[in-house]
Amino acid sequence: MKVRFKVNGVEREIEVEPYELLADVLRERLGLKALKKGCWRGECGLCTILMDGEPVKSCIILAVEADGSEIYTVEGFSEDGRPSPLQESFIRNAGLQCGFCTPGFIVVGEYLARKPRISKEEVKYALSGTICRCTGYKQIVDAVLEAHQEYRKE
Ligand code: FES
Ligand code: FES
Repeated sequence: MKVRFKVNGVEREIEVEPYELLADVLRERLGLKALKKGCWRGECGLCTILMDGEPVKSCIILAVEADGSEIYTVEGFSEDGRPSPLQESFIRNAGLQCGFCTPGFIVVGEYLARKPRISKEEVKYALSGTICRCTGYKQIVDAVLEAHQEYRKE
């Protein structure tokens, strides 16, 4: 089946099997390797992408379901190869250690940090869908809140 979608601002058209997962198509066929393979059953959040502006776990979505959608992965948030303000904030706040979970947090974090208003509780709740075994989460929450302040200045 042929699907068309926009990925990180670029129109893509690709033949997929009806059973192919969106995560597999993005990572293995379109080469977007920041998208990580974790549980592959919707639990860890490492494969999170933005689809039509909302964070979704791409390992539980079929590629055909994404036909006509607009998708962002971590690769789509940097500009000219430079880290985004949120990515810089993760570094400043030590929001990562091994880094394996980081792509999932960055995607949800960009979604949160770019909202007009967010509360700490909302950030904590939204980030609870992604699992980190290193940082203890506080630094990640701090990184998102700090980036939110920066995006508000832009
Ligand atoms: S890899 Fe998709 S939620 Fe874990
Ligand atoms: S930084 Fe290691 S799992 Fe999150």
